[in-house]
Amino acid sequence: MTAGVLSRYAEWLPIGEATPRISLGEGATPCVSSRVMAQQMGLASLHFKLEGLNPTGSFKDRGMVVAVAKALEQGSRAIVCASTGNTSASAAAYAARVGLRAGVVVPAGGIASGKLLQAQVHGAAVLSVRGGFDAALRLVRELSERYAVTLVNSVNPHRIEGQKTAAFEIVDELGDAPDVLAIPVGNAGNITAYWRGFREYRAAHRCSHLPRMVGAQAAGAAPLVLGEPVADPMTVASAIRIGNPASWQGAVDARDESEGLIDSVTDDAILDAQDRLAREEGIFCEPASAASLAVLEKAVGAGAIARGAHAVCVLTGTGLKDPAAVSAKVAPPVDVEPTADAVAAALGLPRA
Ligand code: F0G
Repeated sequence: MTAGVLSRYAEWLPIGEATPRISLGEGATPCVSSRVMAQQMGLASLHFKLEGLNPTGSFKDRGMVVAVAKALEQGSRAIVCASTGNTSASAAAYAARVGLRAGVVVPAGGIASGKLLQAQVHGAAVLSVRGGFDAALRLVRELSERYAVTLVNSVNPHRIEGQKTAAFEIVDELGDAPDVLAIPVGNAGNITAYWRGFREYRAAHRCSHLPRMVGAQAAGAAPLVLGEPVADPMTVASAIRIGNPASWQGAVDARDESEGLIDSVTDDAILDAQDRLAREEGIFCEPASAASLAVLEKAVGAGAIARGAHAVCVLTGTGLKDPAAVSAKVAPPVDVEPTADAVAAALGLPRA
């Protein structure tokens, strides 16, 4: 099978003969079953969709490849985005891949070090602004209206189209839609995209039912839970530090049409979920991603999601991008003498 979202899901995407079939090998990420958490929660099954395995380490690549291909098709020479980090990393990589200029606007001091580095190494022009992600997005929207540059945030419809392919993959791999799909919500493009993907597959009889959509926000950045924008969003999960999501209506529709829910969890619950995923399941995701597990656990605990359900948790990005979020929780290396006996003593190993 040809690598890449454009080739594998061509007939489901708004692309044609004139659309260049670019790829960095995005998509086809694994859906890995949980070792212990399904049982702990009393679920019939729990799978983690490992979107951190995309080429730039997050789900953004699925939509970026479509947005950049369409920008090329339309003769654009430059792309721009606002970002909490992952979109900028992805935009920078795909722009480098095809020889477009990329400009990324990030909240000053507000994005994880690995994500910033990605945008820099791929040669994007990185600009930081005061005022957080919401201000940055307003800025690039105005910029793209007044200047010759293609906006590649998820307000660009091609981004959502590409991202819906993750829902297709879940159905293709598991054989049907899950009962519950848990997903972090920041700017709300991704929950909108998954819901569209499931509905399109249902309409084409690729799955027998639709999942209940469970959206996860951080308590300090939970506009969709509160029902109103948050002026100064705060959370350790910098990817979803967003107070006024662009796809607000898409998220509300996904929640209501699927009879799902959008709830929030504290930063402590997010970091605890991230820690347990790493230690108990062998999966290192970023804090925003772990919010999906934390909210799923909360919903199951509260009885809002039935025990016995088949659930999929979308882990949207790799933990390697954001070492600062976990560095306080991990032990430093232990200095030992370079002898087998010293190492054995430090590890507490019995003799053979
Ligand atoms: N998880 C991660 C790792 C993200 O980077 C984002 C969003 C989300 C979840 C939320 O997805 O915005 O579609 O609701 N990151 C954007 C960015 C905002 O700029 O990288 P969403």
